[in-house]
Amino acid sequence: MLVVKNLTKKYVIYEGFYPEYAPNQYFSWIVNIMALTKRKKKFIEALCNVSFKCRRGEILGIVGPNGSGKSTLLRCIAGILRPDSGEIFLEEFDLINDFDKIKGKIVYISALQWRSYEWELSCYDNLMFLAKLMGFKGNEAQEKVLNALKNFELIKYKDYPPRKLSTGLRQRLALARLTLSDPLLLLLDEPTLGLDMVSANSFRKYIKNLAKAENKIIVLASHNLKEIELLCDKVLFLKKGKPIYYGELKDIKKLFKNITVLEVDLKVDNYSKLIELKDKLEIYYDFNHLNTGICNLKILLKNKHQVNNVLEYLNKIGEVFYQVVRGPSLEEVYYHVYREI
Ligand SMILES: Nc1ncnc2c1ncn2[C@@H]1O[C@H](COP(=O)(O)OP(=O)(O)OP(=O)(O)O)[C@@H](O)[C@H]1O
Ligand SMILES: [Mg+2]
Repeated sequence: MLVVKNLTKKYVIYEGFYPEYAPNQYFSWIVNIMALTKRKKKFIEALCNVSFKCRRGEILGIVGPNGSGKSTLLRCIAGILRPDSGEIFLEEFDLINDFDKIKGKIVYISALQWRSYEWELSCYDNLMFLAKLMGFKGNEAQEKVLNALKNFELIKYKDYPPRKLSTGLRQRLALARLTLSDPLLLLLDEPTLGLDMVSANSFRKYIKNLAKAENKIIVLASHNLKEIELLCDKVLFLKKGKPIYYGELKDIKKLFKNITVLEVDLKVDNYSKLIELKDKLEIYYDFNHLNTGICNLKILLKNKHQVNNVLEYLNKIGEVFYQVVRGPSLEEVYYHVYREI
């Protein structure tokens, strides 16, 4: 089990010194020199009291807007950053103080991990280098690498250097190292970023299988809420470094069960009335098919009793010829939670 307790992390940044008031132009050179030498220290609270548990066989999703602390959290667990306070345990090992004892069981892959590969070496040689660092030798290393390339459909690119690969292929190469070792904990930061749909889906199947069939612990940060909904047992919502919701996916969805989604296809006669409606309601998605005058709208309502009134209004300003009323997806819950940021 991975246990994270009250994790806190502040970054220190230094800002330039820009006095609001320079006494007069004769002193402006002094101000300029001070701007170079005197810098203000500022703290950024990237994580504040973050706690969660993730058992073997579980996938935990971390979600939140840009800058909410997802990568910082994964980097703290991966031993790349030292948290200011809090505890991290993987099984009986204290990851903050005894990281070396268990580091071989942890794999961290970030969205731009491919940048850590040697640009001029071939894909094969890059993975071979990693396999050897992991202690594999001779035929065993070769077998591991060929297997990794095969699993991520990179065999035909094995002699290409990463600089000649497309973004998605580079990301596949980054992910391929997952198959080199046999980690217990996988920390994945936006792993499917840049992958085409087919590769992303096969990667999702692969990690679902790692969790369910091989009992691994997987922590996954992603902006793809459909991916999170598809893969994760638990979800942690972060907002400016603070945990705002955490729990089983089904329990989190229950918290928002009052939200009703009204999805309609609307042929609009009066656009200005539609714009008025947009100001009053929480419209998660609207797409105008300009050539047909048809709008596809996903409207989040506070409760299902509003449905009839809204439909009545929509029928006044146009013609509704497709409608569905349903509960919210995780993506819609996310929109509801964060839209005011
Ligand atoms: N090396 C750093 N030095 C200073 N501040 C940093 C550093 N890395 C991140 N931050 C700040 O910490 C906060 C959290 O950043 P983090 O990268 O963890 O967010 P994130 O949720 O992963 O964002 P994204 O969705 O954009 O990847 C942000 O305010 C960010 O500006
Ligand atoms: Mg990030």
